Order: sequence, then structure tokens, then C-alpha cells
Amino acid sequence: MILYFSGTGNARLLAERLAEILGEEIFDLSPSLCHEGKTFKSEKPFVIMSPIHAWGLPNEVADYLSACRFEGNKNVYFGLTMGANDGGMGKRLRSLSDQLGLAYRGVAAFVMPNNYFMGEKLESDDEALASIRKSLEELPSFAAAIKEEKDLAWVHPEREGGALLRLVAPFIHTMYGKYGKRGYRFSVSDKCIKCLRCVTSCPMENITLSDGKITFGKRCMLCLRCVSVCPVEAIDVNGKAKDNGILHLDKLIEKL
Ligand SMILES: Cc1cc2nc3c(=O)[nH]c(=O)nc-3n(C[C@H](O)[C@H](O)[C@H](O)COP(=O)(O)O)c2cc1C
Ligand code: SF4
Ligand code: SF4
Repeated sequence: MILYFSGTGNARLLAERLAEILGEEIFDLSPSLCHEGKTFKSEKPFVIMSPIHAWGLPNEVADYLSACRFEGNKNVYFGLTMGANDGGMGKRLRSLSDQLGLAYRGVAAFVMPNNYFMGEKLESDDEALASIRKSLEELPSFAAAIKEEKDLAWVHPEREGGALLRLVAPFIHTMYGKYGKRGYRFSVSDKCIKCLRCVTSCPMENITLSDGKITFGKRCMLCLRCVSVCPVEAIDVNGKAKDNGILHLDKLIEKL
């Protein structure tokens, strides 16, 4: 069973393609993140797919998984998407697996288009398409390990970042979880047509229409889905989208 969270579509794309290859059941965690944990039952291994946020699994995803029960097959594999590197997740995912009562069998980290426009200019469409194609080529080897229930042999040390990053990544991720999201200011321009797509798609139920205005609450997990789904690019964060671009993965994959 494939359980996935995706902000702007990268992890969703790979989760859906993996489900096709394996003929597996797939479950979107997004609508559940703000709610009570569920019980998942599967005769086949569990596969958890998610983006990397600040060199770790988004806390909202890890916390939700910790509130769930997993019955049946005890093996778990992780598939992560990221713009560059994950800071070395094996050890941390092994302890999360222990916490979930599952046996950690490995992590595959896929380089996909970066959505973090608050930090830097996003790559060109051609570069983004090249990383999607490469990840899709890599999926079958991930699928084969899952199918055979073998330990995953995934040898891409460069995708973990350097030794220093691997050392400090758990600390940075913890600090990001505690304080990191305070510095982000969401704004909505007068291009907004009140279509409410941002409101209905926010996994944290953090956006409302109040007094005729789109308003952001305090539960944001910075997944950037609202920015990505807005049909008129009315949402910005720290005023960076206008210079650095916005990832619209659905439009991009039409060119695949
Ligand atoms: C808040 C935030 C933090 C991120 N941190 C990292 C990171 O530490 N390393 C990295 O390579 N990419 C990072 N990214 C980029 C995403 O991991 C990447 O674009 C991912 O494929 C997004 O998946 P999604 O489209 O399924 O949400 C970050 C993105 C966001 C929004
Ligand atoms: S407000 Fe936007 S970025 Fe924050 S959780 Fe909701 S959809 Fe994601
Ligand atoms: S998705 Fe964009 S246009 Fe639609 S309500 Fe939200 S901000 Fe306005």
C-alpha cells in the first residue's frame, strides 16, 4: 500500500506511477493530516512517499503517521522527492519506522523539480523535465525491491549532501520545525478571482475566505500547494514568487 503526501505534485506523480508499476493500492494522506490517525491494513509492504522539507520529512506528515496504526505486512519503504539533497535520512527514517511498529527496508531519494521559490530562482522547464524523466527511469528499480521485499540498494550518496550537512541536518530540521516557519509572509494580490481553490486544497485547512478576503491562519506547513494551484498566480510568499517563479507541475508534465 502506497501512502503519500505531496504539496505541489512531485511526490504524487511518483506515487501514482509506482502504484501503476506495482498494481498497488494508493492513499493520499493530505485530507487526513488535520484529523485523527487511521488504521491501514495491507498484505503488501507499506510505501510512504513525501517531499523533503528542510532536510527532513515534514513534521505534519511524520506526526500524522505516528498517530496511525499499521496492520498486516510489517515492511516499510520510503520514497522522497527533493530539489537537491535530503541531508541523510536513513537513520531518522529507521527510528520513525520503529515508532510505527514497522521494519525499515530503505529509502529512495528522487531529485524532482524544486518548488522552494522563497530561496532561489526555480530551474527552467527543460531542467525540471529532465529531472522528472530521470526519476521516472529510476522508479522501476525502487519498485523491484518493494515487489521482492528486499532491502533497497539505493546508492546515490551525493543526494544526501556532504558530511557536514548530514551531521547538522537533524538539528536544522528540528529548529525549522520549532521556529523556521515564522519568517514567511503570505500575500494575495488583487488578481484573486475568489475561485477558492486555495481554500479547498490546503491540507492544513489553514485558508479561509473572511470578509471577502483570502486569509491565512497559523497552521501552515509550507507545502506551497495554495501557491501552485492558484490559476492566476495571486499568492506570493515573502514577495519572492514574482522573481523566482512558481512550480506548476501539472502543466509541466503535459510536456513530458
Ligand atoms: C518548505 C520547503 C523545504 C524544502 N526543503 C528542501 C530540502 O531540504 N532539500 C531539498 O533538496 N529540497 C527541499 N525542498 C524542495 C522540495 O522537497 C521538492 O521540490 C519536492 O519535490 C516537492 O515535492 P511536492 O511537489 O510533492 O511537494 C523544500 C521545499 C519546501 C516547500
Ligand atoms: S496555507 Fe498554503 S502552503 Fe500553507 S499548508 Fe495551506 S496550502 Fe500549504
Ligand atoms: S486560488 Fe488564487 S484566485 Fe483562487 S481564491 Fe485562492 S488566491 Fe484567489
